[in-house]
Amino acid sequence: MSTSPTLNYRKMIDGMRGEGGFAYIARGRMLAAKGYKVINLSIGQPDVPTPENVIDAAVYALKEEKYTGYTETPGIPELRRAIAEYLNTRYGSDVKPEEVVVTPGTKGAIFLALAAYIDPGDEIIVPEPSYPAYPEGARILGGVPRYIPIRFNGSREGFSLDLSLIEKNITSRTKMIAINNPHNPTGALFTPKQLDELVDIARRRKVMILADEIYDNFIYDGAEFKSLISYPDWRDYVVYTNGFSKTFSMTGWRLGYLVVREEVARNLSKLAVNIWGCPISFAQKAAITALKDPETWRWVEELSRRYSEMRKLLYNELKDLPGVEAWLSRGAYYLFPRVSKLLSMINMDVEDFVDYVIDKHHLIILPGTAFPDKAGKEYIRFSFATSREAIIEGGKRFKEAVTELLEKTRR
Ligand SMILES: Cc1ncc(COP(=O)(O)O)c(C=O)c1O
Repeated sequence: MSTSPTLNYRKMIDGMRGEGGFAYIARGRMLAAKGYKVINLSIGQPDVPTPENVIDAAVYALKEEKYTGYTETPGIPELRRAIAEYLNTRYGSDVKPEEVVVTPGTKGAIFLALAAYIDPGDEIIVPEPSYPAYPEGARILGGVPRYIPIRFNGSREGFSLDLSLIEKNITSRTKMIAINNPHNPTGALFTPKQLDELVDIARRRKVMILADEIYDNFIYDGAEFKSLISYPDWRDYVVYTNGFSKTFSMTGWRLGYLVVREEVARNLSKLAVNIWGCPISFAQKAAITALKDPETWRWVEELSRRYSEMRKLLYNELKDLPGVEAWLSRGAYYLFPRVSKLLSMINMDVEDFVDYVIDKHHLIILPGTAFPDKAGKEYIRFSFATSREAIIEGGKRFKEAVTELLEKTRR
C-alpha cells in the first residue's frame, strides 16, 4: 500500500524540538482546568498586561483610523524611524531607519536573520543552554548547530561565555554565533570585556553575530550592559534582534524587529513579503506609542525594579536548599540554579524531578533540558516575572518537594 502524500512531510520535523516553555504552559492550564491551584514559575512573560496608553493607541488605530490594511513589508516608516532613534539614543549607535525591519515577533526577526544567511550545511555556534529558536530555526534551513557549553563558575560568579571554545569551534562552514544578552535561560549578563573579545573573534574570523537583546530593559544591581549594536563597525558582523514582547508586556501582539546593514535589510523585504507580507498594522501604531511616550518608560522602569525584587525573593527561597546551587542573576527574568547534587541525592534525572514537582505540587518550572540540548540537564529554570505571593507559595512548594524526595531516599 502506498503512503499518502500528505504524510510525506519533511522528516526533520519529527526530530524538531518544540519550545519547552509553551508545552509546560499547556500542562499548567490542564492542571488548572482540573481544579488545582497551580503556581506558574515557568512563563517568560510579565504578570501584568500591556500598559494602558499602548492599548489605547491600538484601539485608536482600529476604531478611529480604521488602520486595518496591509502596511509596508519592513514596517511603517514612522515605526522604523522610532526604533532607529530609540537605539541610537540609548546605545550611541548610528542605525538608519532603512536598516530596521519590523517583524511579527522577535521570533520572526530571528528566523529572518537565519534565513538571510544560513545555507544547507552552514554552521551556527550556539552557546548552550540556549533559547531554542536559534538552533531549531537554523535546522529548518538545513543548517547545523554547534553547541558550546556556557560555563557555570559557581553560585558567586555565575555564568560566562567560553570564548576560546567558541573560537576553536569555528570552521570554514561557520556563518554565525548566536548571542543572547541578557541571557535566557541563565539570567547571565555577559560583561563588556567578554563582548569585546567576542567581537574581536568575529572581526578576525569573519563570522557574524546574531545578537538577540530582547531582555535589555531587565538588568539588575546597576550592572553594566554593552549592546552589540554600539560597536562602530557593527555593520561588518552584526545582525541584531529585539522586540516589544518582554519590555512592554506585548507577547501576544507579535512584534519584533531586526537591524542589519541597509543592503541586506532591503533584500530581507523580499523574504518577508513572501512569508508574512507585513507586520500587524495596528500593533505597529501602538508600538510607536510604546517607544515614544515617556509614560511607558516609567512603567517599564517600575516593572524592572519590581522584578529585581522578585529575583532576590526567589533567590532567598532557593539558596539554602540542599544540593541546589543558585546564582543571583543579573538580567532577564530568570534564575537557573544547578541541581546536579540534589539530583544525585534523590537519584532522579531533571525531567523526572520537574514532573514530580508539577504533578505532586502543581508548581510549573522548566527542566534545563528545554534549552534545548544536553548542557541544561543539571539545571532548572525559574521565572520571577510574577507576583510576590506566587514566588513565596512557589518557593514553599519547591522546598516541600525537595524535602519529601530527600526523605524518601533516606527511608
Ligand atoms: C531570548 C528570546 N528571544 C526571543 C524571544 C521571542 O520573543 P517574541 O515573543 O517577540 O517572539 C524570546 C521569548 O521568550 C526569548 O526569550
